Amino acid sequence: MKLWGGRFTKETDQLVQNFNESLSFDQKFYRQDIRGSIAHVKMLAKQGILTEEDRDAIVRGLKEIREDLDSGKLTISPDSGYEDIHSFVEGTLTERIGEAGKRLHTGRSRNDQVALDMKLYIRDEIDELDELTERLLREILEIMEKNTETYMPGFTHLQKAQPITLAHHMGAYFEMFSRDRSRLADIRRRMNYCPLGSGALAGTTYPLDREYTASLLDFAGPTLNSMDSVADRDYLIELLAALSTISMHLSRFCEEIIIWNTNEYRFVELDDSYSTGSSIMPQKKNPDIAELIRGKCGRVYGALVSLLTTMKGLPLAYNKDMQEDKELTFDAVDTVKGCLSLFAGMLSSMTFRKDVMEASAKRGFTNATDAADYLVNKGVPFRDAHGIVGQLVLVCIEKGIALDDLPLEEYKKISPVFEEDVYEAISMKTCVDRRNTLGAPGPEAMKKVIAVYKERLAERKD
Ligand code: ARG
Repeated sequence: MKLWGGRFTKETDQLVQNFNESLSFDQKFYRQDIRGSIAHVKMLAKQGILTEEDRDAIVRGLKEIREDLDSGKLTISPDSGYEDIHSFVEGTLTERIGEAGKRLHTGRSRNDQVALDMKLYIRDEIDELDELTERLLREILEIMEKNTETYMPGFTHLQKAQPITLAHHMGAYFEMFSRDRSRLADIRRRMNYCPLGSGALAGTTYPLDREYTASLLDFAGPTLNSMDSVADRDYLIELLAALSTISMHLSRFCEEIIIWNTNEYRFVELDDSYSTGSSIMPQKKNPDIAELIRGKCGRVYGALVSLLTTMKGLPLAYNKDMQEDKELTFDAVDTVKGCLSLFAGMLSSMTFRKDVMEASAKRGFTNATDAADYLVNKGVPFRDAHGIVGQLVLVCIEKGIALDDLPLEEYKKISPVFEEDVYEAISMKTCVDRRNTLGAPGPEAMKKVIAVYKERLAERKD
């Protein structure tokens, strides 16, 4: 059934029908389409545009369609001939309840209808994304709380740099995913205005109560320009940008886990339930899930660039190009939801090898800056101290030992300023404990930050 046969004298070419249809993918939001229609007819009846009997028949009919689709009693067949979910719902309703069904579309266009459906759908998805991000944040926070004294090397250029703690490293990701969550909340707030009642592009002549429809659908209010209402896809672009950033954060985290899980590092061990094997090499235990999450970033970025390109140069108001917003947004949302929940599971089941991490920090001269600071505290200018410790590092490299294991005589050969207390000053514990500026890895500073994070999660503050 078509919604627009009147002015046509020929049937649509089958290829055109196939190319033009969106039912195969916009059926994803049949629940939102029905919810929007119910609100619309309630408003029409309140305004006296539709009788109460028609309203009741339509609402009952729509609810039954929803139930039947939910239960599988009614299915959406690809060769039903319907162009989109809007035609499918209206056609099925009219088949079921007769005449009243034909009044559903009064004062509405598919342009404002699809704008509404997509907003309702995306709003629900943002809520789910928010929950998944929160779950990941809680996971990270739990690891942080347990590891404020788990020492590990911090890296720059992927070279060991200075000692940090696992809590501190995890905290960096807590910050990233907190910003992601706050971006989602911003988008939700900005998009939360109801386009229904904008008609095809120029509103309608019926006395619609757009505030009422907006409130029935939990929007902050109606949109204020009917042309923009049907042509706006900014919120999808913003969402895809936020999803791209989440994917980028996940891929960085995955990359670190992949490195940490190698035989060379052994900082972590992925759980068997989150690893896969090789068909030929019996010894293998591969981090496929981390790699896949890292890899899926590409399709999410792709969706963002695709939609930006589709929207570029589109004249006002609605253009069919905009139908292209759906598949790619659905795919990006589903991909990121999958990645977030898989990643949280992988993280919570992973084992951290604290002894290996600490030994690695020691072996990498991550306390060299602290050895220089030790000399500075004894009156040596920093530039000289830097040179002295550089020489000490060279001696240690030749001997294949850490600064902590170099005998005091060797220290003294290079600078007589060194005393027995140097070992205490460059111990992993001292190096980290003394870094207590806000945001640094020292346990005191870290505990303060953890308390802030806990409060943020409890009060849902960004
Ligand atoms: N399937 C269309 C879309 O997704 C619905 C709106 C159709 N409007 C129209 N004037 N053809 O954009």
